[in-house]
Amino acid sequence: MKRELALEISRVTEAAALTSHNWIGKGQKEKADLAAVKAMRHVLNTIKIDGKVVIGEGEIDNAPMLYIGEKVGLGVDKVDIAVDPIDGTRMVGLGQDNAVSVIVLSQVGNLLKAPDMYMEKLMVSYKAKDAIDIDLPILENVINVAKVLGKRINQMTVMTLHKERHFKVIEQLQTAGVKVISIPDGDVACSIMVAMPHEKIDMFYGIGGAPEGVISAAIMKSMGCNMQAKLISRTDCKGQSLENDQISQEEIKRCKEMNVQVNQKLQLSDLCKTDNIIMSMTGITDGMILGGVKMDEDMATTETLLIRGKTRTIRKIVSSHFMERKDIAIKKIIREENYE
Ligand code: FBP
Repeated sequence: MKRELALEISRVTEAAALTSHNWIGKGQKEKADLAAVKAMRHVLNTIKIDGKVVIGEGEIDNAPMLYIGEKVGLGVDKVDIAVDPIDGTRMVGLGQDNAVSVIVLSQVGNLLKAPDMYMEKLMVSYKAKDAIDIDLPILENVINVAKVLGKRINQMTVMTLHKERHFKVIEQLQTAGVKVISIPDGDVACSIMVAMPHEKIDMFYGIGGAPEGVISAAIMKSMGCNMQAKLISRTDCKGQSLENDQISQEEIKRCKEMNVQVNQKLQLSDLCKTDNIIMSMTGITDGMILGGVKMDEDMATTETLLIRGKTRTIRKIVSSHFMERKDIAIKKIIREENYE
């Protein structure tokens, strides 16, 4: 992939952040997602790529999609695209931290194709990449990683999502003296935290969305880290009910069609086969690694993290946008969403 694509792609997540910003704290996460999707689609269609969306999102919570199979771009370079217009849509609706817009470009055929369902994820930094095994209890993994890192268990830091399904693991880890940082939503940003040595996050464990999992895998692969995962049915994630059981049956059927299996251990190379990826992530609300959109009258500031896996380069781009000069389509999306 041409390196110029990296800067082009940063415009895609910037546009999503700028257009969803108006929805922060308005309690309407679907409208924020819709604005981000429209903006991303518009900017993607101005770039010289022959892109195909292979990972979109939407079925877990019926969000509007950049749908799987959708073609974007002006042609030329063939790429696969994994996209999450907003990771943390609920956070945007609630006006809370850690919502980001994220996209990954990869050479064709390198990202796992799996249904939009839940995924159990274990991620570790490059220093302990060979020390994880998702089949073992999480505490045992933490102990094994601590050994490799030369740390005591009470010097270990693990991130997770603050969801009821993780409360038992959180308690076990905390009882053993592990520092656990649990955030309400947004596990893609957690993978960046694990990948960046200075963030001092040793591991991530949690069950979240499979699309987010594939995006995280691309990040982990490009940064020389490790990840293992398992696709998890709705019932195993959220408990038994008529509705969950029906959804689970459908998920199992679709897994078979896509040649993947529920509960099967997936290695990083099953999730993402190449480190030649480009990833762009822009903050929407303030977060652990990126500031959110700052709007000052007619000027906006965005913070974006850009990874180019081929050279393992991470750039942080702070951009100022004079909104008056913005592309007319972006201004229109903002206006529409602003009830003007
Ligand atoms: P979206 O904003 O894209 O819906 O994702 C937020 C998120 O927290 C993800 O980071 C995570 O993978 C998933 O939701 C967890 O799902 P759920 O909220 O259904 O437990």
